Formats: sequence, structure tokens, C-alpha cells
Amino acid sequence: MSSTAVSQLIILGAVVSGCRATAPHSSAEGHGAGHGAGHHAQGHGPDHFSDPSQYVAAWNAPDRDVYQKPDEIVAALGLTPGQTVVDLGAGTGYLLPPLVKAVGPEGVVIAADIEQAMLTFLGDAAKKEGWATVRLHLSAMDDLGLPPASVDSVVTLNVWHHIEGRPAYAAKVLQTIKPGGVFVIVDFLKEETEGFGPPMSMRLSADEVVAELVAGGFEAEIVPETMPRHYVVRGRRPL
Ligand SMILES: C[S@@+](CC[C@H](N)C(=O)[O-])C[C@H]1O[C@@H](n2cnc3c(N)ncnc32)[C@H](O)[C@@H]1O
Repeated sequence: MSSTAVSQLIILGAVVSGCRATAPHSSAEGHGAGHGAGHHAQGHGPDHFSDPSQYVAAWNAPDRDVYQKPDEIVAALGLTPGQTVVDLGAGTGYLLPPLVKAVGPEGVVIAADIEQAMLTFLGDAAKKEGWATVRLHLSAMDDLGLPPASVDSVVTLNVWHHIEGRPAYAAKVLQTIKPGGVFVIVDFLKEETEGFGPPMSMRLSADEVVAELVAGGFEAEIVPETMPRHYVVRGRRPL
């Protein structure tokens, strides 16, 4: 197989895996499915997802629900109508429809991302889909950057392994959530997951995530689910 064909295959694999694939320089660096060529695996700067058009087909694929089980993610949040929920690292908005539905017309869904291009994409999608309750928020790499005790819950899907200084980040999320509110983290299992997901060096076990949330001040637990490639960890801000 030619080297061009190999590169194309690796880039395609990275997009399908639901994680990093942007920079062509990243793909051929031997991390399997093009994952993890950013700071975690290479030590040369953060991962960037600056072009939504590269990811939307894979991240918003209708058959993603088969393994991602968005209903189980929403159930773990325990949302009620009128609440405010943050989708941290919203990307191309895969989780927004079930979140919008769960909080209803009186609620608010804050789509947060470090990439302005993702937020611009989501703004257009919100207009097209009629998501009147979605607000866009540009967050910093090391800080969600919302006011203290301003939201009922935060969810993050396939993002936590990209964040550096996670216990410190968790402590900031804790302050953002109202007492009694929850932070739900969904991420890839730390084991081979059928070619999907980041390289093993970037993965975190559910127990490691629980420990990071506890270090950040949460009460944390692993939530039962039926996802073949992911776990769900829930932190609760003590009352
Ligand atoms: C693999 S994508 C996941 C997108 C979406 N959650 C999904 O599952 O389809 C990671 C997203 O998180 C964003 N991201 C990465 N690090 C972040 C951080 N520290 N804070 C907020 N968003 C971040 C990226 O820009 C990207 O849109």
C-alpha cells in the first residue's frame, strides 16, 4: 500500500474513532487511528479540533447512539425541566438534542468548547434546529470559566482525557456547579475498544477518573451502563 493510502486510512480511522484527527502531521505518527499526537502523547502542544467539517459526519452519525447510549448519559445527569446543564467540549453537538429535550423550554443548555469554530458551527445548528435554549460559551483549556454555582450539572463526553491538570480542573468545575449538582464524565475504557478511541497512553480508567474527581472535591462513583466502549463516572458536589 502506498504511503499516501496509509495516511488516508489513518486519518479516516481517527475521524471514525470520535477523537483527534485534525492536523495531517498528527496522523502518521504511529498512535493508531491517528489519536493522541497532541500534548499527551507527543509533548508538543494541545490537541485542536478547529474544523468541524472534518468531524461532523462521524461525531453526529445517527448510528452512534447504538454504542454511545445518549439516554443513559442523560439519565446519569438526573436532569429535570428548567435546569441548566453544560456540555463541556460540545464539539459538533452530538449530545445537545437529548439535553435540550431533558431541560425543556424553561431550561438552558450551555455548549462549551475551546474552539470558536465549534461554537460557530453550533450557533448555525441551533438556528437550523430551533434550539432556543442553547447558549454558546468559549471556555479556556484549563478553566470552564462560568460563574460560581451557576449551573445544575456538567457533562463531558470523550473530552476528559484531553484535559491537563484534571484534579485542578475538576475543582473549578465543582465551584461552577450548585451544591448537590453533578458532573458526569463519559470516556473510553482503558482497554482495546474495537479500534475506536485514543491511544492507550491517553486513556484513563474509571477508577482514575473517580480519584481525580475526589481530589477536586466531589463525591464520586462509577455509574452502571451498557456501553461497549465507555464508562460513566459521576461526581456530586457535596451539599
Ligand atoms: C473528541 S471531541 C468530543 C466532542 C463531543 N463531546 C462528542 O462526543 O461528539 C473533543 C471536543 O472537546 C473540545 N475540548 C478539548 N479540550 C477542551 C477543554 N479543555 N475544554 C473544553 N473543550 C475542550 C474539543 O475542541 C472538541 O470539540
